[in-house]
This record gives sequence, structure tokens and C-alpha cells, in this order.
Amino acid sequence: GLLDTKIKAKGKKYFGSAADPGTIGVAIDVTILTSDYGAYTPENSMKWDATEPSRGSFTFTNADALVAFAQAHGRLVRGHTLVWHNQLPAWVSSITSASDLTAVIQNHVTTLVTRFKGKIYAWDVVNEVLNEDGTLGSSVFSNLLGESFIDIAFKAARAADPAAKLYINDFNLDAPGAKTNGMVALVNRLKSRGVPIDGIGSQTHISLGHAGTIAANLQTLANTGLDVAITELDIASSTSTANEAQQSSDYETVAKACLAVSRCVGITTWGVSDKDSWLGAAKAPLLWDTNFVRKPAYTGVDAAF
Ligand code: XIL
Repeated sequence: GLLDTKIKAKGKKYFGSAADPGTIGVAIDVTILTSDYGAYTPENSMKWDATEPSRGSFTFTNADALVAFAQAHGRLVRGHTLVWHNQLPAWVSSITSASDLTAVIQNHVTTLVTRFKGKIYAWDVVNEVLNEDGTLGSSVFSNLLGESFIDIAFKAARAADPAAKLYINDFNLDAPGAKTNGMVALVNRLKSRGVPIDGIGSQTHISLGHAGTIAANLQTLANTGLDVAITELDIASSTSTANEAQQSSDYETVAKACLAVSRCVGITTWGVSDKDSWLGAAKAPLLWDTNFVRKPAYTGVDAAF
């Protein structure tokens, strides 16, 4: 692929995109996913509500399709996500016993990671566990188990697929501050407890004009000794000419940030076309417009590579 080929020539592992049935079943998306992207993250298909909607009853139709698509094209998959307080079925949120929840986390993580063993480059084992002030966020997981739910999830994932890279993933890690400090401190605690963690994912959902601090902040995260990755990149903007130019410049800055940090393994954009972005087409956050025409944003990334 084009951008994927170029980022690999710079020593990175992949340029990836979110994908799911809504895109891998659409010819123009498939053309772009296979021309420019070397890794896919299921946008929703591996989340808890999609995979274990009722206790012990697993559904993998869409997740299987995404993994099969990646395998057919020889691409990587980032598994997303095993333990998250959103898109979480009510039966999990209503658990009241720590031992019961521990068994449920272990069974969920073990079942998903085992199903796709050998086919996942990296798993987002836990997602968005921090508050903006860097403290542990409230959820059924933290409320019953404190920070130990993270240990439980990572240990189960490592046992099920020792070759998969295991990540903690979060947003608003784009600039220095309490959340970045909290992430570094959390990762250091996990490492000191021997928790098997390999990487920090920075979602990188940003708006215009906020790309300049990303390189230094990725380096701060990488200084923990872990890999880092840009996992869900999009830049909220609009279709005005001035904003498209600023967005192109911001995309170039973000792409260069990963190149500048040796432990940054790759970049994933959160979709292909503005038409299908979770932020809505009016925010025009991606590299292709609603008609699947390359935007200045694409040129920005291309210029960085
Ligand atoms: C979003 C998906 O893009 C939407 O389709 C869904 O309705 C909600 O979730 N952080 C994450 C992603 O880690 O899983 C989220 O994806 C976007 C924010």
C-alpha cells in the first residue's frame, strides 16, 4: 500500500485504519484499505457488547470477518478492546462481587484472545481507565477490584497469546499534564508488579492546532520503556479551505511525531472516509472526503513520509 509502504520504509510496522463490516463490505473502502493501510482495528466488533452480550454466550461473526479480511490481504490486526467501561453489557455492570467479576474478566479475555491467537499484532487490553486528573476512573471494574482489574486482564491476555503485544490505551495523551503523568505512573506501577504490558496506545482524537506537543509527549510515554502507538487518529475540523489546510499541516505534524520517536510502532486512523467517521461528516476528520477523494490531510501524511 501507499502510505503503509512509505511508513514501513521509515522503519515503522504499519499505517492502519479502523474497519468493520460497514467498510470491509464496501468496494471503495476495500480499495483504499488495501492500497494505503497495513493494519486494521475493528471499530466496534470486538467490544464486550458485540462479543459477549450475555454471560458466557459469545458471538464472533463480525470479529471473525474483520480478522479473515486482514488475513486474506496479509495485514496486521490491532484487537480492540478487552476491558472497557463503555459498550459494556448491563449484565457486567450489575455484578456486585469481586470474585465473580474476576472470573468474568478472566473468561472474557481468555476467550477472545484464544479465539484470535496468532492473528493479532497487539491487543488494547484495557481502554480509557484514567480520569483527566490522572486518577483511576470509576467503573464496575475499579469499583469492585481497584487497580487490580488491570493486572487480571493483562495476565489473562498474556497467558492466552504470549506473542501478542499488550497495550493500555487512552485519549488526551497528546500534551503534558495530569493525565499523561497519571499514565506514566500507572504503567510504572504495573511494571513494578510484574504485569505483562508491552505498549501504551495514544488514541490521538484531536482538534485543529493541537499537534505540536505530540512528539514530545509520545517520547514521555516511551520513556517508560514500552512501545507506543497512535491508535485512533482523527482531527476534528470542517470542509472549509482554511481548515483543510490547517488539518493537512496537523496531520503532517502528527505523522512526523511517530517517525521521530523510535518506540512509536505505527499510526492508525479511526476510519477511512469522513462519510463514516464516528465524529460525523461535518467534522471532516479523516484523510478521504465523503466522496472518497483524497483530501489535503492525505497529502500532509504523505509529505511526512
Ligand atoms: C467509537 C466507534 O467509532 C463508534 O462507532 C461507536 O459508536 C463508539 O465507539 N475511543 C475508543 C473507540 O476507544 O472504541 C471509540 O470508537 C472512539 C473513542
